[in-house]
Amino acid sequence: MNMRFEPAQGLSGELRAPADKSISHRAALLGAMASEPVRVEHYLHAADTASTLAAVRALGALVEVHGDELVIRGCGLREAHEHEDPIDVGNAGTLLRLLPGWLAAQEGRSFTLDGDESIRRRPVDRIVEPLRQMGAELQSRDDRFPPLQVHGARLRAISYELEVASAQVKSCILLAALAADGATTVGEPARSRDHTERMLLRAGVSIHRHGRHVTVVNTDELLLDGVSVPGDPSSAAFLVAAGVLVPGSRLLIGDVGVNWTRTGFLRIVRRMQGIVLGDLEDESGELTAHEPVSDLDVAYGALEGTVVEADEVPLAIDELPLVALLGCFAEGETIVHGAQELRVKESDRIAGVVEGLRGLGAEIEATEDGIAVRGTGGLRGGTLEARGDHRLAMMGAVAGLASREGVEVMGMDAAAVSYPGFIDDLAQLSA
Ligand code: S3P
Repeated sequence: MNMRFEPAQGLSGELRAPADKSISHRAALLGAMASEPVRVEHYLHAADTASTLAAVRALGALVEVHGDELVIRGCGLREAHEHEDPIDVGNAGTLLRLLPGWLAAQEGRSFTLDGDESIRRRPVDRIVEPLRQMGAELQSRDDRFPPLQVHGARLRAISYELEVASAQVKSCILLAALAADGATTVGEPARSRDHTERMLLRAGVSIHRHGRHVTVVNTDELLLDGVSVPGDPSSAAFLVAAGVLVPGSRLLIGDVGVNWTRTGFLRIVRRMQGIVLGDLEDESGELTAHEPVSDLDVAYGALEGTVVEADEVPLAIDELPLVALLGCFAEGETIVHGAQELRVKESDRIAGVVEGLRGLGAEIEATEDGIAVRGTGGLRGGTLEARGDHRLAMMGAVAGLASREGVEVMGMDAAAVSYPGFIDDLAQLSA
């Protein structure tokens, strides 16, 4: 579906961002691994998280859906049912990386994970290696890509240093570690989102963070009383960007998750002199079970360029296309370092952002490890190809509202992966 976004006059109003995708995936997976029924409030109903519900059902969990509330009756840590047909993860990279952690601990049972064309280009070697060290057997295409076969085994605890800061890989190892024989430690080169750790703490698991390392002790069962999913800061980021870029805008976005590991984008926007008020969580060494929320109050204003360093990248990973978009409107240069991971997201997001925004008139280039933009105070407009990637499609829509001539987004339907109501929300704010 192609869709045109005309320059907007000024956005105003109050709305809630859709529920957090990362936390919804984890709630469904941990619910399926738990021993007692788990109630999930505000589960995200989008294509990616529907894949997770279908997967846990295929593995034996019962899921009752009442609007945006779910009740999941899990099958327990070690009792996933064997499933002969491949489990279809659709377009969901998080499901592809997290689920094998649970499956690896299913002794004597085998599973295959597969998905759409884009998922078949997403690397799985980064989870295969640690799970093999733990004792599971895995096979993948060219030892790197899905389909992925997992043969469950009795797992041993490991200490593992991640080469790339990835919450998905860290979470996969932590889930496998629940059923291993002892304490497993995972180290990451920079902090990444910690929703899995917080939810495991809530579920009664012995889990500790010390600096960039997290240690989890094996357990017999997960007991998770309930999960209330906050608004997704990565989805809210598109509304924030629109509010900051469209002259005359003033928006209130309610109940957004403001876990410190997810608010890197908001800190970058503030550094660029963007006006975003909210009660953001501070960085803390201590692991907490809580997922804080805040309303965000966003207003239009002039922006200055900034430099994003590698340590900040995992804290704003899905919002980096928007940082580049803001950079087009800012004064001076905006440079993102250490962002090679963007090449292996739903699309090659460095190529998609650079070619997409250049086609709209931006002075932007790919660098060895990221993106560099020279701000020109605005964007002309034109046509942007979403490449089947929800975040590129939504970036294109925001670019259109803030542009001089409007933007036609080719493949706008991709937004349904994470934010099915996006177009309606933009219409409401423009009315
Ligand atoms: C996610 C982690 C990030 C992010 C993805 C969701 C998660 O991926 O890009 O959209 O829910 O853990 P990586 O951890 O691989 O960087």
